[in-house]
Amino acid sequence: MSKHFGPDYVRAIAPYQAGKPIAEVAREFGLDEANIVKLASNENPFGVPESSKKAMAQVVADLGRYPDANGFDLKAALAKRYDVPADWITLGNGSNDILEIAAHAFVQKGQAVVYSQYSFAVYALATQGVGARAIVVPAAEYGHDLDAMAAAIDADTRLVFIANPNNPTGTFIPAAQIEAFLNQVPETVIVVLDEAYNEFLAPEHQFESAQWVRKYPNLVVSRTFSKAYGLAGLRVGFAIAQPAVTDLMNRIRQPFNVNSLAQAAAIAALNDTVFLEEGARNNAAGYQQFVEAFDELGLEYVPSFGNFVLVRVGDDDEAGARVNLALLKQGVIVRPVGNYGLPQWLRISIGLPKENAVFLAALKQALG
Ligand SMILES: Cc1ncc(COP(=O)(O)O)c(C=O)c1O
Repeated sequence: MSKHFGPDYVRAIAPYQAGKPIAEVAREFGLDEANIVKLASNENPFGVPESSKKAMAQVVADLGRYPDANGFDLKAALAKRYDVPADWITLGNGSNDILEIAAHAFVQKGQAVVYSQYSFAVYALATQGVGARAIVVPAAEYGHDLDAMAAAIDADTRLVFIANPNNPTGTFIPAAQIEAFLNQVPETVIVVLDEAYNEFLAPEHQFESAQWVRKYPNLVVSRTFSKAYGLAGLRVGFAIAQPAVTDLMNRIRQPFNVNSLAQAAAIAALNDTVFLEEGARNNAAGYQQFVEAFDELGLEYVPSFGNFVLVRVGDDDEAGARVNLALLKQGVIVRPVGNYGLPQWLRISIGLPKENAVFLAALKQALG
């Protein structure tokens, strides 16, 4: 008889599939790392802002000490930026940490979590990690069906995850619809509004979600420095919520979850408007470059509000894997999304114009 360790709900977890690292693809396919283009993890193609590099250099000498467990300076900078008190902020080791913290703080085994089909993979992981029941609501047009999600909330539900824009589909929900949803949710249910891609939204789509937490005591707004701010490798994200919610999240949070380099880099990046603007411009231009090419190739795609596009590369269920392999052989790493139930699709992060062009040429080749 084979022995099993751990609870059933932990053994049932399918591990997170990250984008393939460049070094791994180089080894596997006998390619030169320098020629590989990685558009697989929705990272910032400009890399780390210079302002953050300078800020990090200044704290290197102090790395023998633990980080500030309360992230005083970073929270002060965030409080100023978002016009909320500092004790409404929870820092995370990336915003994935915020999602996990929320699940641990608000949900226990046997209770339920609501999220959408085709929404970010970590919602399922966070739910399973606490032994909760997932209520996965069918998507509408590849995005969240908020009415169906509100209707799906049952007596056991303690948490709802909403991604806006959503990954991997790139769909966006306008402010009025989210507010209408928040007005329907029972106040005993926490809503995590995950806005990892918020900074890529055009001004007409931006709204003051951070201010909504004043009106909704059950709302947690989650943000990250991994995407628009170019700090994915440092792992820093944060949540904004009222103090009663923030207090519980901070009890679950590991005291030193955001390291000293990450805290310093994030403060610098937060104030680097030039870097953000350049990133947004590059993203908008890259999106055009992609969709014009997809139109030309007759490929269906989901209109995206993030820094990536979901494109359908065939109509059989091996299409995603097949085209992905053909791209890898040419040194282009993108993200197959079969694990999301989208086996005919690939998710491509928007890169620099030249990287986008390399991908598009490889895609044409791969499609024959
Ligand atoms: C919707 C969404 N939320 C959260 C994250 C987590 O990012 P991080 O942990 O780097 O902040 C991602 C990353 O891809 C994402 O797509």
